[in-house]
Amino acid sequence: MNLIIETRDLVKRYGKFTAVNSLSLEVPTGSIYGFVGPNGAGKTTTMRMLTTLTRPTSGQAWVAGHSVTEEPRAVRRSIGYMPDEFGVYDDMRVWEYLDFFAACYDIPENERKRLIEDLLELVDLTHRREDMVDKLSRGMKQRLSLARTLAHDPMVLILDEPASGLDPRARVEIRELLVELARMGKTIFFSSHILADVAEICTHIGIVEAGEMVVQGSMEEIVQLASHREIMVTVRDNEVAEQVQSLIAGTPDVIEVVILEQRGGRSRVRIDFSGDDDGVAAINQKLHAAGIQVLGFNEEIKDLERRFMELTKGIVT
Ligand SMILES: Nc1ncnc2c1ncn2[C@@H]1O[C@H](COP(=O)(O)OP(=O)(O)O)[C@@H](O)[C@H]1O
Ligand SMILES: [Mg+2]
Repeated sequence: MNLIIETRDLVKRYGKFTAVNSLSLEVPTGSIYGFVGPNGAGKTTTMRMLTTLTRPTSGQAWVAGHSVTEEPRAVRRSIGYMPDEFGVYDDMRVWEYLDFFAACYDIPENERKRLIEDLLELVDLTHRREDMVDKLSRGMKQRLSLARTLAHDPMVLILDEPASGLDPRARVEIRELLVELARMGKTIFFSSHILADVAEICTHIGIVEAGEMVVQGSMEEIVQLASHREIMVTVRDNEVAEQVQSLIAGTPDVIEVVILEQRGGRSRVRIDFSGDDDGVAAINQKLHAAGIQVLGFNEEIKDLERRFMELTKGIVT
């Protein structure tokens, strides 16, 4: 897999507080990668390290093959960054705003006019070119801000909460724009604190919490993980374990029933299951109804996984 953004054990501490903890990101080239987590999870801090605005405390990060600490200029040339705050631009017209940023990227004056028209067209703001920036709606400001990140035609867009604070219609517009940019060949790495908001358009997601990656992968992998639970049934011996297996195998939503090695003189059966809580209860009842002596029945979920299940509830139907 060809990664355009990669971090290895990335850490950022502020004094004693760890904002980003040993984070390893893998963003494939050409992906729309949703970086999802609640407020305070460390998303902005991670993006600021990737964009060379903040130095990592430890660990490494590469963007488009360049190290953020060793080759910050090359990194900056390959990215378009949209911060979470738009900033204040008094007395600037929409086209002047883009002209200003294009000039910052050393784009010659005679090329800028055409570029600005193209960018305005792309983000559907042509009809607003003479308006004052501060008078635009939040949705329009976000689109303008996105246009600005494209001025130097970067390979990677790093967008901090592009859809936050927008009304539903403006959110849809931003999402469509991101899909369009991906179609143009850009890799899009963007953050959101709402998983449901990004699930629809992402090819990949990473879920971060308290500075740590809970899980990341392609959308298909995530959906499969989120709908997968493990039920562990402890019984007296292998004979009973086999009874459990033949009884439960073939039950709706049961993926597999595996008899595990004995532990402490007891036999254990692992049931891989993709159903809901009612389904778990139904399995329990079925064992009971068959007169099987169940010594233990529990769902094996680690804390992070449990949190992940809650987060992904909305995207798995
Ligand atoms: N400059 C800073 N100094 C101290 N703490 C900070 C600083 N920047 C961010 N933090 C803390 O780091 C944590 C992660 O923040 P942030 O990266 O902004 O999260 P997110 O973008 O996911 O909401 C938060 O608890 C925040 O208060
Ligand atoms: Mg943030």
